[in-house]
Amino acid sequence: MRILVTGGAGYIGSVVVERLLAKGHEAVIYDNLSRGHRSAVAAEARFIEGDLADSEALVRTMHEDSIEAVIHLAGSSMVGESMRDPRSYFVNNVVNGLSLLDAMLKAGVLKIVFSSSAAVYGLPETIPINEDAALKPSSPYGESKFAFERMLRWYDEAYKLRHCSLRYFNAAGASELHGEHHTPETHLIPNILKVAAGEAEKVLIYGEDYPTPDGTCVRDYVHVVDLADAHLLALNVLERGSETYNVGYGSGYSVAEVVEMARQVTGKWISTESAPRRPGDPPVLIAGADKIMRDLGWNPRHSELDRIIESAWRWKLANPNGY
Ligand code: UFG
Repeated sequence: MRILVTGGAGYIGSVVVERLLAKGHEAVIYDNLSRGHRSAVAAEARFIEGDLADSEALVRTMHEDSIEAVIHLAGSSMVGESMRDPRSYFVNNVVNGLSLLDAMLKAGVLKIVFSSSAAVYGLPETIPINEDAALKPSSPYGESKFAFERMLRWYDEAYKLRHCSLRYFNAAGASELHGEHHTPETHLIPNILKVAAGEAEKVLIYGEDYPTPDGTCVRDYVHVVDLADAHLLALNVLERGSETYNVGYGSGYSVAEVVEMARQVTGKWISTESAPRRPGDPPVLIAGADKIMRDLGWNPRHSELDRIIESAWRWKLANPNGY
């Protein structure tokens, strides 16, 4: 298929493009490079530097490249930032998302895979979290993803625009070619590896008094290659209708366990320091993963935490300055 990948120069988007190309699809990347990196763009993909707000440019691209489906990853994705600046989250993730949907309707492209988030659940009442759990986002980021999911539902009903929303849990790790490089970096594994590489003195542990076995937060870390492969499977859903899936393994690791595993993988001592809880962090986020495995035949191949950290470490050693 010929796929338009918004945000294809970002961390997850660049791996999605890599996997699309490996499976014989054609990819056109549309990214404004506000967070993405030009050098993360695969040489075999066409690259358009453009903004989602520019609906005309999107329509033109979809026509010129005979686009058949969109994988929409462009957007703002940091919970903490969204608490301080909700406006930019609603503009980027909702208003600009609407501009993309307008363009799709105009160009007659009626298939979209959407990068949603576990943040739509807010503070979950039960673990693991299944797709039919209550949606009560506890941040503007989660709220913006929820709003877009809702819009997609009505666009399906009214315009037959088919969607597959993927609610990511914690994307982590790297492929051979693409890894995680955010500025500023807020994610746990890259922050730990900075300490292992001698770029930072210590990693802050945000809260050690959570109601979890060791007091630190538990997350479901998903290898970015497995996560990317879920997008390829999601494209098949669009032939049949619309769906929503969690993308997680159904098992979790605490912050303290991740630090310990990183010490083993890197062979480096990683200093930590206790810090206050980070506002908005739920104690435990673990996906109910049955639906995606059953319906899509998603068969993750890299679920061991040591392999996830190892892949991120290998990428870091090969790319000490990131992109
Ligand atoms: N953490 C630390 N120290 C750090 C960084 C993180 O202790 O330096 C802790 C956090 O408090 C959290 C865990 O490590 O408990 C994981 O934090 P991340 O920032 O790596 O990931 P989040 O779980 O906060 O965020 C992820 C995605 C978001 C998504 C969210 C859903 O990155 O896009 O899950 O809640 F919205």
